[in-house]
Amino acid sequence: MEPTAPHLPGELDRLFYRPSDEFFFSHAGLSLTYDDVSLATLYSEILPRDANFETALAPGLSLHLPVVSADMDTVTESRMAIALALNGGLGLIHYNMPARQQLSELTRVKNHVHGLIREPIKVAPDQLIGEILELIDEKKFSFSTFPVVDASGVLLGLLPGHCVRPRFAPRAVTEAMVPRSSVLTIREDELGDDPIARADRFFTEHIGIHKLLVVDSEDRLRGLFTLSDIERITQERLLQTKPARDGKFRLLCGAAVGAPREASGEIDRKSLLGHVEAMVERGLDAVAVSTAHGHTRGVGDSVRLIRDAFPSLPIIAGNVTSAAGVEFLAGCGANTVKVGQGPGSICTTRVVAGVGIPQLTALYVCSKSAAHCGVTILADGGITKSGDIVKALTLAHAVVCGSLLAGCPEAPGQIMEINGKFYKQYRGMGSHAAMKAGSAARYGHAKDSARKSAAEGVEALKEVSAPADAVLAQLAGGLQSGMGYLGAPTLDVLRKNARYTRITAAGLKESAPHDIIEVKTGNE
Ligand code: XMP
Repeated sequence: MEPTAPHLPGELDRLFYRPSDEFFFSHAGLSLTYDDVSLATLYSEILPRDANFETALAPGLSLHLPVVSADMDTVTESRMAIALALNGGLGLIHYNMPARQQLSELTRVKNHVHGLIREPIKVAPDQLIGEILELIDEKKFSFSTFPVVDASGVLLGLLPGHCVRPRFAPRAVTEAMVPRSSVLTIREDELGDDPIARADRFFTEHIGIHKLLVVDSEDRLRGLFTLSDIERITQERLLQTKPARDGKFRLLCGAAVGAPREASGEIDRKSLLGHVEAMVERGLDAVAVSTAHGHTRGVGDSVRLIRDAFPSLPIIAGNVTSAAGVEFLAGCGANTVKVGQGPGSICTTRVVAGVGIPQLTALYVCSKSAAHCGVTILADGGITKSGDIVKALTLAHAVVCGSLLAGCPEAPGQIMEINGKFYKQYRGMGSHAAMKAGSAARYGHAKDSARKSAAEGVEALKEVSAPADAVLAQLAGGLQSGMGYLGAPTLDVLRKNARYTRITAAGLKESAPHDIIEVKTGNE
């Protein structure tokens, strides 16, 4: 007898579009990644713009945007971490630099006040206006008003732009400046919880004033707000997601560490704990013990040491792709486990070592183990478009992006021009160059033997992209659409309700623009 096809719509959907357990169990033994599947839509009552991205990664560590920037030396230093936090996400400052430098990168993020120019260009009272004109010309400054300070940084006055003219070239700054007694300033400790709102109020109250100087208790210049910056930020605030901040209203920032060893092979307890302690003192919000193989004694020992010394510090640890790996790191005290071995755009781990699991299956397996152990997971690597983020977040609590952010101006590194196009360097932390610069231990090699060790990453270029704000806005927009299609007002519901179907190469071809001559990409 012929099997009868189910006729009820719900039965049909259930047979063809499967919830995660059924779907992944029916593919057990076959590992899938983002492009192997598509998500089925569900009845929806939510508008994409109402989708809520809140994600709790650990007690005391919640993000408004589930995006973390990779701890790579061509992705995350302070500028990228600031951009991530301002958009509600988290930057992980890489550790391919001396500990002291990592501390100062972290401090820059924690001290960042959006809109406050921390190191304004200053002039000295005995300089000539002609010298200031030369400076403007040489540095191509688009402004000509400058604070005037003495050798110890104490504010003496303000040189107004309308005096910086060739006819006054032989005159000294001191003759032209508005004296200190007539310059309106604000004390740093009076900025309060919302410095932008405070500066905005100041400019409304003081008609015609375009600069607000910030001083400390000894009248040393500490920064400067400009009216145009404040107006731009206030406008953007109406559109933007909320910045990710700590209890003291500072931007959130994470930093990565390795599992440093002494000559005996034991974890270098003193240097690890000393450095983490210094970072915690500066306001570190999460430490990431970040290596290529997290299911190891070294990573476990490091996590345990940090957990014992800092009971409430959120710890991210990785990377793993197995349920046992998640259980191990959770048992050592990690709150969040990074999942991903070999999916990264610059990774060659699978080619070189023959190991690693296509990312979606790895996420499913790890998500089950994480739920069992009471920890969260990050989908690390292989994210090439916003649709991948939606798929990843059906299983993970946030994604880690390297390649998508490496072309932004906020990523470390110089822009280079090749045949009229602009690029930035992007390299794997397991590439020879990065290992030589310090990351060899992350891949289990000694630094001095990095050249001889098998590289597990390549050195590449990324075309220069829009600033991180714009890239993140695109990604958030895609995530909102995905959540709207799945009727998911929150990420919890997205994880609960997602249904998958396997697609073929023909399905994948159909999924992207095809059989047309593209004249504009979707992002232009
Ligand atoms: P995407 O795809 O966003 O991936 O560029 C970034 C992630 O890749 C990992 N990573 C590496 N993996 N060899 C590897 O096998 C490498 O040299 C390497 N460098 C980075 C890392 O997890 C990062 O977040």
